[in-house]
Amino acid sequence: MVSCTFDGQTLEVDPGTTILTAARMTGVEIPTFCYHERLSLSASCRMCLVEVEGRNKLEPACATVIAPDMVIHSQSARVVSTRQDMLEMLLANHPLDCPVCDKGGECELQDTVFDYGKGSSRLRDDKRVFRKDDIELNAVIVFNANRCIQCQRCVRVCEEVVGDVALGTAERGLDSEITGVGNSLKDCSHCGNCIEVCPVGALMSVPYRYKARPWDLVKTETICGMCGTGCSMSVEFSEGRFKRVKSDPETGLNGELLCAKGRFGFDAIDGGKRIEQPMIRKNGVLKPVSWGEAIECIASTARDIKTRKTRIQGSISARQTTETGFVFQQLMRQVFGTQDIRSSTRFGGLDTPDAVTALAQVMTGGMQRKPLQSLLEADCIFLLGSNITDENPVSGYLLRSAMSDPNKRLIISSSRPCGLDPLAAATLRLLPGEEAGLLSDLIREDPQISDSAAGAFTHKARSILTEAQDIALLIGTEFLRSSKAEACLRWIEQLVDHFGAQGKAVRLQFLFDRPNQLGLWDIGCLAGAAPGWQAIHTTPPDPDAHVDLHYVLGADPMSQDTQTSSSFLVFHGSHYNHTAKLADVVLPAASYGEEAGHFTNHEGRVQALRSVRSPDQNLVPTREVFNQISQAMGQGALPVAADQVRNKITAEYTGFGQFDQPADHGGNDLAYNWPKTHSPLAPLDHLPQPPPATERRRFLVTGDSLFQSGQLAARSSVLSSLDDGPYVEMNPGSGSDRAFEGMMVTIFSAGGNFTAPLRINRSFDEQIVFIPERFLMEHGKRNLACVEYPRTVDVVLSGRRDPSKYG
Ligand code: SF4
Ligand code: SF4
Ligand code: SF4
Ligand code: FES
Repeated sequence: MVSCTFDGQTLEVDPGTTILTAARMTGVEIPTFCYHERLSLSASCRMCLVEVEGRNKLEPACATVIAPDMVIHSQSARVVSTRQDMLEMLLANHPLDCPVCDKGGECELQDTVFDYGKGSSRLRDDKRVFRKDDIELNAVIVFNANRCIQCQRCVRVCEEVVGDVALGTAERGLDSEITGVGNSLKDCSHCGNCIEVCPVGALMSVPYRYKARPWDLVKTETICGMCGTGCSMSVEFSEGRFKRVKSDPETGLNGELLCAKGRFGFDAIDGGKRIEQPMIRKNGVLKPVSWGEAIECIASTARDIKTRKTRIQGSISARQTTETGFVFQQLMRQVFGTQDIRSSTRFGGLDTPDAVTALAQVMTGGMQRKPLQSLLEADCIFLLGSNITDENPVSGYLLRSAMSDPNKRLIISSSRPCGLDPLAAATLRLLPGEEAGLLSDLIREDPQISDSAAGAFTHKARSILTEAQDIALLIGTEFLRSSKAEACLRWIEQLVDHFGAQGKAVRLQFLFDRPNQLGLWDIGCLAGAAPGWQAIHTTPPDPDAHVDLHYVLGADPMSQDTQTSSSFLVFHGSHYNHTAKLADVVLPAASYGEEAGHFTNHEGRVQALRSVRSPDQNLVPTREVFNQISQAMGQGALPVAADQVRNKITAEYTGFGQFDQPADHGGNDLAYNWPKTHSPLAPLDHLPQPPPATERRRFLVTGDSLFQSGQLAARSSVLSSLDDGPYVEMNPGSGSDRAFEGMMVTIFSAGGNFTAPLRINRSFDEQIVFIPERFLMEHGKRNLACVEYPRTVDVVLSGRRDPSKYG
């Protein structure tokens, strides 16, 4: 420990502690501008100057490490007067337009001048005007050059955390100015983190601009509904209308970070076409009916089908709360008498009992319910089967920040390239499902390492994994869509056991692309596993067997091709989608943002989702609908009140952990009663290779893009405006990029065709083609993204762009 005297108080601090950190530990405020906990030091604003006895010059507290017996004064007359002078200089050219500035009321400069300023200025010259007008750098960021205090926080957050290097400084000295390339930020990720860290009103949000004053906003702390990272955010309304989303440095695993989907996608709550009343299809047309008639129709049909013992299926969106999911599976199991429940219709690889058993073993054994930050402390991080920077961007930012430690090694194997590839010691492009072969080769004693790219990766990855003491596995869910899901899950478990047996700490987390996938699985929204991952030993239905009653809650699993005329389809949800249009009974529901409950993020943290506005007063709450159906079928009451459901979950499934876990809960290892089998697997022969690509044959993978994640994001007009429309992303092979510019791509397959402009990405394997799922949904091409995954397709490149041919 190092001893020092701080403002007359004797302190013992760890070696390497800065004066600013010590001040904050003792509760003393030292004003700062350029300093930011998450960013590298800049020490450029000189706002934090303090006096150190024996040194002539004042020292920046943020960058000065405490030396033994140092005597520091942070409130001396010299320090106070210097702070006043610094603020006077900062205000020399800063426009005093607080009354019209978006930052007014929450501006660090305004607050610091109020707390430490002199109250008057000696400067009488006209203020210099850098730019007469604000510059819209892109669709979400507007820049006022006159207000910029050159702290460089925006530049550092963009480069060091987001990894985009979209902002920079032009010119020097007094002329220096923050800018994007060519005065625009066309290629940035639109995350808005630069706006969040800007201490003044220089960077502003286009959608929020001039919409409200901070003191008029009503704030609700809630959880982002876009992906499984589960970022905390504050949703702010004024006069009953949504205004903006902000993040809080002190809350959640994300602190002040959000991605574009989280920060700018919340307008989705006002998008899309709402389902306003119950409807029943009569003579081929959906007709409004009373709640009673709709519920009786479902109950009588379910009663009839249950008597005939034919197939009833339930599909629930992984955006439903844990409370609603729990009662949904009760409705399915106890009332409808079916175990046929899915909470992601895309995970076709989980359709067999063996795959569910393998999933349960990983989820209850290898999976670590710990803060992501603790996994990122590992010296080897293995990112498997995930485009983390598009699908879970904030998890990606945290991983990028962790990689600033030069002692860490990152290895990446995935079907799609991601923004972290350049930081990886080894990367491999692999088809979803081939992870099983790769993992087998990584742990077998006699690996068959070929000269191929896969062989080189295996060689490198084996040596990194062998050298590591701590291994963190971050695993995407794409392989669950493939027929090799079970093998992959078993080899994931083998890998954890293999390196664990060598005395290494091996920690594993899945990266979910939907916000409550883990929560719904934990409470039994899965065929073959009841709440608490308890095994259900019944013969599973043949996945291809006819479904007589399909109850869909919020999801969109249906397309024209999959719905047959004899099925009875119920759609229960907030907005019209393809399934609603095909349904026999349609029931309205509250949307994301209108219903409180809990989501479990990919750390296993059970977080409170709050309602930011009330749903339509005529709406019967979703769990009450389940209860009424149950009673109409003579099956007794189901729990409706959220706390009643939570009490039941915590009383009966002790493994579920606590609700409302704070950010620093320190992890929660959940104990389940799942029977574990640890039978070692025989190594796979070698890393499977896809069949050699013909000139045109490729494999289609689909998923989320940076601005899209399913139905919710698709309803955001801001996010939709950030996408340039449909595209097909691939490496077109030999030839210059110029030769391929502006070309169209048509995908031909048994599941349908799709045409869109080519987006060239040379980091793709030439055999893999990517289309964001949202565009396939919009154009009714859902079949291209399911049934067979990855889908074999023929690809034809043609002529110049022709928008009339999209879709
Ligand atoms: S929005 Fe995000 S990516 Fe774009 S400039 Fe700001 S920090 Fe960088
Ligand atoms: S725009 Fe804001 S964050 Fe960036 S340098 Fe200027 S004041 Fe700092
Ligand atoms: S990373 Fe996921 S949870 Fe976080 S803001 Fe982005 S979409 Fe939302
Ligand atoms: S905060 Fe220390 S120099 Fe800027």
